[in-house]
Formats: sequence, structure tokens, C-alpha cells
Amino acid sequence: MANPILIDNQTGEIIAIGDDPWEKCREETERLKQSTVNLIEQMIATGQAYLDRKAEWEAEYGEVGPGRPRKKLLPDGSRKEEPSFWQEFEANVGVSQRWAWGLMLVAEHADQARQLIQKSTSECSAGYSSIESIVKLIRDLTRSALPPPPETPVLLDDNLVIGDFCEVGDGIPDNSVDLIFTDPPYAQVDLYAALAELAVRVLKPGGLCLAYSGQVYLPEILLEMSGNLDYIWIASIHHTGGEMRFRNLHIHCGWKPILMFAKPPLIPWWEWFTDIISGGKDKRFHEWQQPEAEAAHYIAALCPPGGMVLDPMCGSGTTLVAAKKLGLRYFGIDLDAANIARTEQRLEEIP
Ligand SMILES: C[S@@+](CC[C@H](N)C(=O)[O-])C[C@H]1O[C@@H](n2cnc3c(N)ncnc32)[C@H](O)[C@@H]1O
Repeated sequence: MANPILIDNQTGEIIAIGDDPWEKCREETERLKQSTVNLIEQMIATGQAYLDRKAEWEAEYGEVGPGRPRKKLLPDGSRKEEPSFWQEFEANVGVSQRWAWGLMLVAEHADQARQLIQKSTSECSAGYSSIESIVKLIRDLTRSALPPPPETPVLLDDNLVIGDFCEVGDGIPDNSVDLIFTDPPYAQVDLYAALAELAVRVLKPGGLCLAYSGQVYLPEILLEMSGNLDYIWIASIHHTGGEMRFRNLHIHCGWKPILMFAKPPLIPWWEWFTDIISGGKDKRFHEWQQPEAEAAHYIAALCPPGGMVLDPMCGSGTTLVAAKKLGLRYFGIDLDAANIARTEQRLEEIP
């Protein structure tokens, strides 16, 4: 269609043979479509190379899980790092674990990826013709790669258990939880480490773990948690019910961190949300109770519809109350029987 022929409607004579002003646009579009197809093929090949290397590693050292290397506790109390596929991978290939997961997903779903690209390019949609859209494709694939929700209710459903989450948590099936939202005692750094260890096993891939924290132990807590999970962000609670004074530092504290981690792959599948909220003050059920509006804000944004929310240190059950009101499934654990009783009562009051 390089030189369109213009014909006189009345006489049928050729009036002009002119240049097509759209030709360049068409040519470049074709080139873009072809390079998108080529890019997907290259992504599949790269992801497959990563998968092959992972399989070789697994044959030698055992299964490769997500996250950073776990530190094995030795009898003398010291910790030894296990050989880590991801550490070796990042050092030798020069790209991050997150990037690698994305490409491995594309390779594992190669036919689906090709079909999507084929469809979008043949429909001439702008859909997958940019890098941003390739990221969307990986996000779609991640979603479809998540295990489907169980058809019959599992032990987790709308359940409360009295006990230490480090023990009770062992009974939670792998990859069964969509979101952990919890409020541990801030000074107990070991509990954050145990939380991250639980999270990396029970969360579905891409699922998030949000934990309240104070500012004082933040460096240690971040270090412990990022040993198992991928750090995302520090969201916040703006204190409106009075500031707390840290005398030794001369600080009036007006906010509280909510640490956000993901079980890899970290691909932002959620919609946009704001990382600050003021929930006011509510201590009717527990001296450490957090306001329901804060939990509701983050849970609504970060748990998929019908998902399972876990709070392993649920106190008076604020997380679970918010989850139930949002129509989500929930599971709560607390050491203290009186707290579980309060939680039960609050949940029963919700129609
Ligand atoms: C800060 S409170 C949570 C308050 C809660 N956000 C609320 O709104 O009511 C922390 C809770 O963690 C519980 N806890 C501490 N260590 C625990 C453990 N190892 N297993 C389970 N619960 C634990 C405590 O009993 C306490 O109720």
C-alpha cells in the first residue's frame, strides 16, 4: 500500500498516484509488533535458562525457596548461612531475584505468554507493546500462577486458636494465606524473625506480610525480616490521639511504621493505595488495641477478594474484625485466652 491510486468517481480515470502519508506509521508499527514478539521469545529463553540452572542446583543442594538465605541455628547459638541459590544467582548473573522470578514465570507459561502477545498484536491494541505492558503480562501470569483458593474450607477458615504462633503456625498449610496483618510486641525482635519465617512458608507467592513496629528496634527488625521476605515499603499510621514522647531522643513521635514485606516474587499486583492513615484511638477491648480503620485501610488494599487474612498475634482481634467486615476469610492466634475470648465476642457481634 505504498502508493495509493486516486480514481475519479465519475469518469473512472486515474487522477493521481501519491505517497501514502500513513506508510511510515504502519511500517514502524509492524516493526514494533515484531520486536515485541522477539522480546517475549527472548524472555522465554532467558527464563528457561534460569529454570534449568535452578533445577541443576536443586539436584545438588535441595529445593530452592524464595527469599534470602536462611541462617541455620547451630548448637553453640551461632548462625551459619546455607548455600544460597539466589545469592549465587545475583552475584553471577547480575540481576535480582525479583527479576528472575518474573522471567521464570514467563518461561513456565510460555504458551500463554505467546498467545497474549499474538492476540494483542493482531488486534492492533497497544496492550502489550511496551515494556510497561510486559510487566503487566508478568503480573497477570503471577496472578494466574497463584494456587486457586481451596474449594472446601480448610482448617484456617474463620478460626481462632489460643497458643504460640511459632507452634500453632506449623499446622497452617503452605501457600494458603493471602495477607498477614499483625501487631507484634515491638521490643521482641525475635518474634518478627519468627513471623517472617512463618510468612515465607504460609503466604501464597506474591502475598504480603504487614507488621506494625515501633521506631526504636527498626534496624534489627528490618534485618531479621528481610532475611526471608522481600522488603517493599514502610507505610505509616499518623497519630491523631496524642503524640508519644521519647525523652532520651527529644522526639515527639507523631507516626508509627507499618512494615511491608512480600513473599517473592514481588510484583505489585494490587491497585494504587495511600501509605498513610489516621485511625484515631480505640482501647475499648485491649490496652494495646489498634483502631479498626487502620487495619481495614491496608487489608482492603492488599488482600484479594475472598482471600485469607492471618493475624498470628491477634490481641483483641482488630485485624480479624476488619477482615470479616470486608467479606474476607480470617485466622487468628494469640497466646492469651482472654484475648481470644474478646476477639470471639467482637466477631460474633458482626452480622
Ligand atoms: C500489641 S498486641 C496486639 C493488639 C491487637 N492489634 C489489637 O488490636 O487488639 C500483641 C499481641 O501478641 C500476642 N503475642 C505475643 N507473643 C505471641 C506469640 N508468640 N504467639 C501468639 N501471640 C503472641 C500478645 O498476647 C498480644 O495480645
